[in-house]
Amino acid sequence: MSEQGSREQGLVIVGAQWGDEGKGKLVDLYAEQADVVVRYQGGTNAGHTLVVHGVKTVLHLIPSGILHPGKRCVIGNGCVVDPVALVAEMDELVAAGVDVSPARLCISHAAPAILDVHKRLDRAREGAAGDARIGTTGRGIGPAYEDAVSRHGVRLGDLADPQRLRQRVEGLLFEKNALLAAYGQAPVTAADILDPLEAVRDRIVPYLADAGAELAARRKAGERLLFEGAQGALLDVWHGTYPFVTSSSTVAANAAVGSGLGPQAIGRVLGVTKAYATRVGSGPFPTELDDAVGARIREVGREFGATTGRPRRCGWLDLPALRYAARINGLTSLALMKLDVLQGFETLKVCTEYTWRGRTYEEMPTEPAAWSELVPVYAELPGFDADLRAARRPDDLPATARAFVDRIAAWTGLPIELVSVGPGRDENVVP
Ligand code: GDP
Ligand code: IMO
Ligand code: MG
Repeated sequence: MSEQGSREQGLVIVGAQWGDEGKGKLVDLYAEQADVVVRYQGGTNAGHTLVVHGVKTVLHLIPSGILHPGKRCVIGNGCVVDPVALVAEMDELVAAGVDVSPARLCISHAAPAILDVHKRLDRAREGAAGDARIGTTGRGIGPAYEDAVSRHGVRLGDLADPQRLRQRVEGLLFEKNALLAAYGQAPVTAADILDPLEAVRDRIVPYLADAGAELAARRKAGERLLFEGAQGALLDVWHGTYPFVTSSSTVAANAAVGSGLGPQAIGRVLGVTKAYATRVGSGPFPTELDDAVGARIREVGREFGATTGRPRRCGWLDLPALRYAARINGLTSLALMKLDVLQGFETLKVCTEYTWRGRTYEEMPTEPAAWSELVPVYAELPGFDADLRAARRPDDLPATARAFVDRIAAWTGLPIELVSVGPGRDENVVP
């Protein structure tokens, strides 16, 4: 981690691909240098894996700073929160000996709640969509954000006011039941939605706070804020491969909106990319490898979803997509993850540009008609056949692995401040 990293006030760590880049590992590592770790968008669709002293923890909603005693963790207003899943996640951490008391964690009372009916609708829609399905995680993310912006939603703060909660829930039933009926699903009652919420109410209410006010005060006092992105640039609802995206804005600027701060709270933006590419769910993936090479990356990289267990689609690193991610996020540097997984390939490929209808593209075009027709142009680089997991300094890497890293920095025009060579917190090469 750079010296700069240890002093800065507002660092955003974002996925620069289609999610699962290794954000959780990196946030856990950088949390050491922060005072507060903030999740600002997404919900339990995320699965962030931390491996500390050989012990694996998968977090879905609780910020990846939670394993550092004394660091404040905040779930911002931009996250959709499933209260039942959150309590289950808390219980798992407590069972593992982690302090998840309100002294460690706070939740914005303005965060939209994911309700039981949102999960039902998410699954009903996907079930009915056939080949057009998005391949969502089924966690109710889309329907919960829809209700938030249609102004029908329930917010976490409503849990503290039983009468308001009931009113909000009753106000939802008419439209929700019309939709469920259209999908051939049984109607829901207020009790179907309220009972699970009431069962966890007393567990959640002590954590509720005006998170934005707290963060502003901490920032003013000089505390260092670390913003933890979920999903990745190409899954952004505005800028991703729409409609095969998630329902929140995953880019760095949303770190401010989703935590209740102004844009000055954002200093540096660190983009996380694997040394190759993966995607889970449907949608365009220009460098996808539907062959033995893709299968090998999936096996060696253990590319199976941390939330749903689904096999991830695998392919070569896609620089036009990465350059696009750099632009829409304002990336100031990169972390290159999972380089160890590419051990043993004689030749490594990197897509440096695409061609489409007689034109060349160095950045991913935003025209949907292009996405399925883009032809990747590959550069071939010599591979390496050494186990990288013990490497800690650039000199520990074989020359060809170092050259691979240097070429990516040159091709993207971004400094690479960390190369990850294993899942463990300490398995990193830093300059
Ligand atoms: P996130 O959603 O961005 O936090 O990433 P996930 O946790 O969903 O997926 C990343 C997976 O790669 C996890 O299983 C990590 O433990 C693992 N991982 C992270 N960095 C490395 C690395 O450098 N090498 C290897 N082999 N695994 C890594
Ligand atoms: P992390 O934070 C990878 C994908 C789903 C689907 C699409 C929409 O672990 O990187 P949704 O349930 O959000 O409505 O699904 O987005 N997706 C992810 N893919 N990593 C994630 O999170 C994801 N969260 C959602 O597979 O294609
Ligand atoms: Mg993940």
